[in-house]
Amino acid sequence: MVERVADIAVTGSTGAVGGRVARILSDASVRQRLPVRDVSRAPVLPGGATVRAEYGDRESAESALSGVRVLFMVSATETENRLHQQHTFIDAAADAGVEHIVYTSFFGASEDATFTFAREHWATEEYIRASGLGYTFLRNNFYQDIMPLWAGDDGVIRGPGGSGRMAAVARDDVAAVAAAVLQDPDGHRGATYNLTGPESLTFAEIADALGEATSRQVRFHNESVDEAYESRKKWDAPPWQYDAWVSTYTAVGKGELDGVTQDVEKVTGSAPLSLSDFLAGSSR
Ligand SMILES: NC(=O)c1ccc[n+]([C@@H]2O[C@H](COP(=O)([O-])OP(=O)(O)OC[C@H]3O[C@@H](n4cnc5c(N)ncnc54)[C@H](OP(=O)(O)O)[C@@H]3O)[C@@H](O)[C@H]2O)c1
Repeated sequence: MVERVADIAVTGSTGAVGGRVARILSDASVRQRLPVRDVSRAPVLPGGATVRAEYGDRESAESALSGVRVLFMVSATETENRLHQQHTFIDAAADAGVEHIVYTSFFGASEDATFTFAREHWATEEYIRASGLGYTFLRNNFYQDIMPLWAGDDGVIRGPGGSGRMAAVARDDVAAVAAAVLQDPDGHRGATYNLTGPESLTFAEIADALGEATSRQVRFHNESVDEAYESRKKWDAPPWQYDAWVSTYTAVGKGELDGVTQDVEKVTGSAPLSLSDFLAGSSR
C-alpha cells in the first residue's frame, strides 16, 4: 500500500502557536508535514512528518513544500531581513505548487500602521495577494500570553500607551482558529480574520489584572515617547528594534489595537478566553 503524503504543512511547530496548531491537527488525526529549522527540536507527533526548511533558504523551502496544498505560515521571528525571508518562502511555496497560505498577520496591518511590525505584516499580505495563491490572513492582536512580560521586575509597565485599549487574544485561540481553517481551507479562502479576546483593556486595567493574578503590585507608567526610547537604551539593540518596542505602545495609545471582534467564535464556535481567564490558567 502506498502511504498518502500529507498535503498540509505547518511551520513554526518548534514555537508556541505552530506547536499548538500541530498538536490540535495531530489529535484530530490529520496528517501534516512539519517544516522546521532545527529537526532535533521538532515535536514528535502521530501523523507528523518533520522536514528541514528555513524561510530564507529557497532550496530547502521548495523541497520541504513539494506536494503540499495548504500551508500554515507562522510569521518569522523579527530580524532586519524578515521580509526578505518571508517573501523567499512565499516564492518557494508558489513554485512548489502550494495552493493556499494561512498566514499569521497582525491586527490593523497596513502600510501606515503605527506599530512598525504591522507594516511588515501588511507588506507580506500584499506579497501573498500578488502571488496569486489562495490565502487566509489571521490578523492577531497582541498575545495575552506575553502580557506578564510587559511588566518589569519592579512591577511597572512602562510605555507611551496613554489610555489606549487593546483587545489581546490568547495564543490558544489563535491556534484553534488556524487549525479550523486548515481543516476546511476552501471555506475560509480569501478571508481576513481579526483575532481578539472578548474585551479591550487599557494598560492600567492590564496592570490591575496582572496584579490580581500574581498577588504582586503592578502598575502602568505612561512614559513620553522620548522617555520610552531612553528607558529602553539599557538593552543593546538595532534602531528598528527600539522603534518596534516603542511603537507597540504608541499604536495602542492611538487606538489601533482597540476593537473586539467575534472572529474567534465565528471560526471555532467557542468564545475566546479573556485575559483574566488566561492568567488564571484556563486554556481551550
Ligand atoms: N501578536 C503578538 O503579540 C506576537 C508576539 C510575538 C511574536 N509574534 C509573531 O507571531 C509569530 C508566532 O508567534 P509564536 O508565539 O508562535 O512565536 P515563537 O514561539 O517564537 O515561534 C516562532 C516559530 O517560527 C519559527 N521561525 C521563525 N523564523 C523562522 C524562519 N526564518 N524560518 C523558519 N522558521 C522560522 C521558529 O523556529 P525556531 O524554533 O527555529 O526559532 C518557531 O518555530 C512570531 O514568529 C512573531 O512573528 C506575535
